[in-house]
Amino acid sequence: YTSESYPEITRDPKFSELSEKHVQFFKELLGAGSAVIDGVSQDAADDLEPFNSDWMRKYKGHTKLVVKPGSTEDVSKVLKYCNDNMLAVVPQGGNSGLVGGSVPVFDEIVINMSRMNTIRDFDEVSGTLVVDAGCILEVADHFLAEMDHIFPLDLGAKGSCHIGGNVATNAGGLRLLRYGSLHGNVLGIEAVLPDGTVMDDLSRLRKNNTGFDIKQLFIGGEGTIGIITGVSIQCPQRSKATNVAFFGLESFEKVQQAFRDAKKQLSEILSAFELMDGQSQDLVHRVTDKKRPLEGQHPFYCLIETSGSNPDHDSEKLEAFLEHVMGEEIVSDGVLAQDETQIQSLWSWREGIPECLGHWGGVYKYDLSIPLPELYKLVEDTRERLTLAGLVGDDEKHPVVGVVGYGHMGDSNLHLNVATRRFDKEVEKQLEPFIYEWIAKRNGSISAEHGLGLAKKAYIGYSRSETMIRLMKQIKELYDPNGIMNPYKYI
Ligand code: FAD
Ligand code: MLT
Ligand code: ZN
Repeated sequence: YTSESYPEITRDPKFSELSEKHVQFFKELLGAGSAVIDGVSQDAADDLEPFNSDWMRKYKGHTKLVVKPGSTEDVSKVLKYCNDNMLAVVPQGGNSGLVGGSVPVFDEIVINMSRMNTIRDFDEVSGTLVVDAGCILEVADHFLAEMDHIFPLDLGAKGSCHIGGNVATNAGGLRLLRYGSLHGNVLGIEAVLPDGTVMDDLSRLRKNNTGFDIKQLFIGGEGTIGIITGVSIQCPQRSKATNVAFFGLESFEKVQQAFRDAKKQLSEILSAFELMDGQSQDLVHRVTDKKRPLEGQHPFYCLIETSGSNPDHDSEKLEAFLEHVMGEEIVSDGVLAQDETQIQSLWSWREGIPECLGHWGGVYKYDLSIPLPELYKLVEDTRERLTLAGLVGDDEKHPVVGVVGYGHMGDSNLHLNVATRRFDKEVEKQLEPFIYEWIAKRNGSISAEHGLGLAKKAYIGYSRSETMIRLMKQIKELYDPNGIMNPYKYI
């Protein structure tokens, strides 16, 4: 059968329907308490709702069972049982994903990792942290702060996302410019394969050239080949000095100039270079009514963060940079945070964008890699296209509230977002495949950091060749021959 939410997808009849006998097995294994939310033998619709819908309230599943394993052994027994009984599953971390990958499509069992949240080990000399997959990112970062270290990844959803979810999506975030991607920072992974086999590759080694690096398949694998249960990761020393500057700029040309000069002059202390366009900041202002950081309004804004080990040295560098960009009129106006509260306040104008955009109803989100010179052109082209189609306006008759661009300028990663009053087929038709075609023409990526999930499963061909897709399918076949792991998603 098809689901009301996804008329174009048909439930695969090879998967079993959940029965009371199945539920009984999970209750005996995990205990009858909160580790099993059972909607098969009783009505538990309200309890199941948060696991069936995503952060954007765009995707809706129909699971009747959520299980929360408490150990790697539990995960192994759960998966083996599901595999033997042809029960489809969805691994779920903090459910903050933005592509519909973490919620079921039909009645797949949700395997929620929140009970596996222990920090297993930390070595202060090497900076190696070993955690359970269900550990919340911010909890790990607070722990590391006490140890004078920092997690090499930071993102707006840090209060809810899990480290296992971060690894499964290969999350990028706000610090990638400085610390690089999880493909480099993750040293080891413990994962359970669909047949219950525990893959213990929880290495703590920086260097290990002994054959294929299989853990890399789980980084960004989006829960399609197994469940990550433990992660070991290289964490940098925490910087003694952090500074944040916020600039207003007249054009995207000037933004590029500022970025090039920031790399030149701030070099090793530059830790973030984020872009926000004027419209994104207008929408944040409309929602929060907070006092803006700068007096006038500008077409573009940048947030620059530096982190270093010597406060005097950093301040000197930053002041010289400020003098340069103001003197050369690369930036029109700027402000430098004077204390931690101001640092947080400036960051809120960037990190607060996703939440504020949801204020009116629905958001169409695109997360793209584009060569820098053309990065902002896509926003202009999309805005023009939706305006010409008569879809943008200030009243209820027009579905589109605004077309905005922001993102991780330092990584050539644009977030193009279309804030709407409601999810609307007419808007969607204008956006897709237009955006994907635009990206393919420039050899960009249709997903820089959020992954493909359900949202982009039909569009993978715009960024990957047939050969690459065939190899991915072969890997899926090898790890998950019954196809129980996160079905109906990108692979
Ligand atoms: P979930 O949403 O629960 O799951 C995501 C995917 O991973 C699903 O396919 C799921 O099946 C799979 N999965 C989860 N846990 C496991 C596991 N243990 N084993 C195997 N598979 C698993 N993303 C960025 O990259 N950069 C950002 O800057 C960023 N900012 C964000 C800001 C906000 C406000 C929000 C809401 C989201 C943001 N995201 C960002 C997206 C999201 O937070 C990340 O994708 C995050 O890594 C997902 O983690 P999670 O634990 O919530 O995973
Ligand atoms: C961000 O950078 O804010 C996130 O990736 C979330 C988003 O794209 O809105
Ligand atoms: Zn992002």
